[in-house]
Amino acid sequence: MKISVIGAGNVGASCALEVAQREIATEVILLDIKENYANGKALDMWQTASVDGFDTRVIGVTNDYARTANSEIVIITSGKPRSPGMSRDDLIATNADIVRSVTEQVVKHSPKAIIIIVSNPLDVMSYCAFLTAKIDSKRVFGMAGILDTARYRMFLSEALNVSHKEIQAILMGGHGDTMVPLPRYTTVAGIPVTELIEKDKLDAIIDRTKKGGGEIVNLLGTSAWYAPAAAAAQMAEAIIKDQKRVFPVCAWLQGEYGLKDIYLGVPVVLGKNGIEKIIELKLNEEETASLHSSAKAVKEVMDVYDKMTV
Ligand code: LAC
Repeated sequence: MKISVIGAGNVGASCALEVAQREIATEVILLDIKENYANGKALDMWQTASVDGFDTRVIGVTNDYARTANSEIVIITSGKPRSPGMSRDDLIATNADIVRSVTEQVVKHSPKAIIIIVSNPLDVMSYCAFLTAKIDSKRVFGMAGILDTARYRMFLSEALNVSHKEIQAILMGGHGDTMVPLPRYTTVAGIPVTELIEKDKLDAIIDRTKKGGGEIVNLLGTSAWYAPAAAAAQMAEAIIKDQKRVFPVCAWLQGEYGLKDIYLGVPVVLGKNGIEKIIELKLNEEETASLHSSAKAVKEVMDVYDKMTV
């Protein structure tokens, strides 16, 4: 059982370690284009095994895709992160070329792999990988919803002074400021969250969630990595263990929610075949309008991508 992580930057390296610690693969291959970079990081990570007690072998390689051959899952984190003042969409020109060439190599060596995209702008990079990989969309999708929901759940947990373990939530739409947290589908141990928190407090949390990535970019001068890495590893675990977990995932829509030919965050069932089902919630008018306006924003960036490639 092999999982490869492409890109040994902050997100990729943290993700490789998360995957290794979860013991969901015998081998984790960490690949980076920078000479010896992944090799060094993987060696350091592998040496934590005797302290942390995991059995996964972590191996770093410099651009050697042959070493990733026949991976069950490949997690693509390659590309530039955001700097302060940048939106995720500003990264498209740089990251589209990178994600395209990485995806070509990935499918060449692991034609049966499930591909998880983490690079930004997330929805459009998922689209780019899908067009490049030419594989079933059930096997190529993006990580964003778990991260955004994680932020939302942690902010709620703090505000309500209850364990994050009790907070269940679904968040849809693009991975950007137009994302759509859904209070109607947010519960605390089954209790609708709206019964436990005042509207203005919830609205403030929703607003902070939408800008959650930017909040960290402003603090660090670059984008987040621990939570994005943990979220991608959680998706890999659901697939490897065939857990059939329900997560918000950036998926290719073909008419669901009245949206077609677009990658967008929706609730799905994740199992050994990748996306095993897209769940269609009965959204009310306001929720549908928010989802469609998020889709419009994503479509605009998809159009930029399409124009770049003609
Ligand atoms: C974030 C970046 C990784 O949301 O998109 O933190």
